[in-house]
Amino acid sequence: MGDLAEADATKTTTAHLKLPGDKTVELPVTVGTEDEHAVDISKLRGASGYITLDNGFGNTGSCSSKICYIDGEKGILRYRGHPIEQLATQSRFIEVAWLLIWGELPTPSQLAAFSEELTANAMLHEGMLHQFEAFPPDAPPMAMLSAMINACSCYHPELLRMDDEEHMAEATAKLISKVRTIAAYSFRMSIGKPINYPNPALSYTRNFLHMMFSEAFVPYDAPDEVIRAMRMFLILHADHEQNCSTSTVRVVGSSGANLFASTSSGVCALWGPLHGGANVAVINMLQHIHDSDTSLSQYIEKVKTDPNTRLMGFGHRVYKNFDPRALILKDAADDLLNALGLSDPLLDLAKELEQVALHDEYFIERKLYPNVDFYSGVILKAIGIPVNMFTVMFAIGRMPGWIAHWYEQFQQTARIARPRQVYTGAGERDYVPADKRG
Ligand code: CMC
Repeated sequence: MGDLAEADATKTTTAHLKLPGDKTVELPVTVGTEDEHAVDISKLRGASGYITLDNGFGNTGSCSSKICYIDGEKGILRYRGHPIEQLATQSRFIEVAWLLIWGELPTPSQLAAFSEELTANAMLHEGMLHQFEAFPPDAPPMAMLSAMINACSCYHPELLRMDDEEHMAEATAKLISKVRTIAAYSFRMSIGKPINYPNPALSYTRNFLHMMFSEAFVPYDAPDEVIRAMRMFLILHADHEQNCSTSTVRVVGSSGANLFASTSSGVCALWGPLHGGANVAVINMLQHIHDSDTSLSQYIEKVKTDPNTRLMGFGHRVYKNFDPRALILKDAADDLLNALGLSDPLLDLAKELEQVALHDEYFIERKLYPNVDFYSGVILKAIGIPVNMFTVMFAIGRMPGWIAHWYEQFQQTARIARPRQVYTGAGERDYVPADKRG
């Protein structure tokens, strides 16, 4: 394989682009670790006057990165080279966070020190609590999350500049720890209950669930199965290379914006129903089908004929075979429900819907398969997370990935992200005073 890859790479180190007017431009070809080939068009405009046009960036590599590898045709996902299947079943979330950001699995002493740092940074500045009070009770948790992550810039001004690795480590610990405190406080405020301060004796995931669900004098002690499922959920969401929110973080960071501002914009991008918001949309869709008289085949028919209805939790820009995260989560949902002695008609419905879709020509032709959001909601629901917090849970998981990408770009001293466009508006025309416009 090595020899073949090298031979191919040598053969294709230059691409030739033939343009109208018999002009040919030579463009260098970059080859990635896994033999991915990319034509480097960064000098194309200078050489020819042409730019490339790629709606939604479906065919554009925006950077080179060492963090995450996906083979969408084979259903492969690796963080820093480690298969997702191994990480999901054998590691802890904070270990994966360290791996993504610093590049290697932590040694036991690094992991212990990181864990202590997370514990030390779990509290929010009391001033931030007053900001929570200013939100209306029905404020969307994603809006609160984004606003409060950005507000961290005000409370930790010393971290607005990254002078060295120590600053980075401090900002990392603050963000990864506080994002879960902010999330839990948003939830408590939204239901009109007092907040639970973080408990330094608890692990990352257990502490989060304590902040969410403990009541006065009744501490919430999550069953081990719940902790395992939650860890797995967070690990599976921790990174996914240049997805919409991570690209947003990189674009914002490329202007020199600080880590808090950049990750807060990542939360906003994640919110949309085509991205992280899909986990809410899936449960709403399943609930709707369950509560209505619609049969599964009627719903599938609607998806195929109504351009405004999509099968939520299906399809992916990169995966064209299966999403390995969905396979893991489907089994995890079964395991969790069995362990807790629960049954959820929505899980049964999801499985049936998957079977109907997988045998339908529309989905087969377009290579649409269940994605990470299809089964994750069933797990969150079983844990007791309310639906309006589902995308917040995705954000807690994705935080290490956002940080890793922001830092990688920072170290690469990348150029500001500033795409071009093809203008299709009006040609030059004169201003007409208001009284002369008819
Ligand atoms: N249901 C029905 N048809 C679909 C779906 C779907 N979920 N997804 C794509 N299609 C169709 C689409 O209508 C188009 O058909 P045609 O060629 O006839 O016009 C074709 O498949 C290609 O779709 P596309 O919109 O060009 O694909 P994309 O790569 O731009 O979009 C996607 C990817 C994930 C946004 C899209 O599949 C989708 O909207 N899925 C539902 C929302 C969802 O589950 N999002 C979570 C994504 S995974 C986690 C994450 O990123 O947060």
